[in-house]
Amino acid sequence: MDQSDVAGDLADILLTEEQLGTRLDDMAAQIDADYAGKDLLLVGVLKGAVMVMADLSRRLHHPVSMDWMAVSSYGSGTKSSGVVRILKDLDTDLSGRNVLIAEDIIDSGLTLSWLVQNLRSRGPQSVEIATMLRKPDAAKVDVDVKYVGFDIPNEFVVGYGLDYAEKYRNLPFIGTLAPHVYS
Ligand code: IMP
Ligand code: MG
Repeated sequence: MDQSDVAGDLADILLTEEQLGTRLDDMAAQIDADYAGKDLLLVGVLKGAVMVMADLSRRLHHPVSMDWMAVSSYGSGTKSSGVVRILKDLDTDLSGRNVLIAEDIIDSGLTLSWLVQNLRSRGPQSVEIATMLRKPDAAKVDVDVKYVGFDIPNEFVVGYGLDYAEKYRNLPFIGTLAPHVYS
């Protein structure tokens, strides 16, 4: 899927497929170095993190296990509240594991800060975060993120796993939506 398939819906392309790929190369190299000789469990947060998980994990030389969680944050519309419900929990026991959460985007940070606390309570060796995108100007809580792809402006973005009303997830790049799509 590319821009021509969603003609008129996008205002701008913020990050190209190539830019995302190059950044993922660096992130994977860093993760390989940091976890050398250690066990590593990648935890993807459904559904947005599917692309990051697939592309990041395939760039790693390090052998990893993978597991998935689905969470929903109670909130109004596109704003998250920090009150999170687990829709699908991990199948994996985290005791003694090194956990790396793979995320698409950190907006307010409320979802991830809740998730990190929740996973830390399960007795892992470590819990860290790798996110493709972060919106520093939208932060409501401080989340300690070890690997960040790109810091982006506080705008609603779609593509590369991110949706608007469940659409646009399969765009291979990150773009901003044209205003008419919202109304
Ligand atoms: P947070 O709790 O505010 O950090 O919200 C994180 C979640 O909200 C992400 O995992 C996304 O699912 C969603 N989200 C936040 N910003 C965007 C955006 O710009 N586009 C699409 N989804 C977003
Ligand atoms: Mg997400």
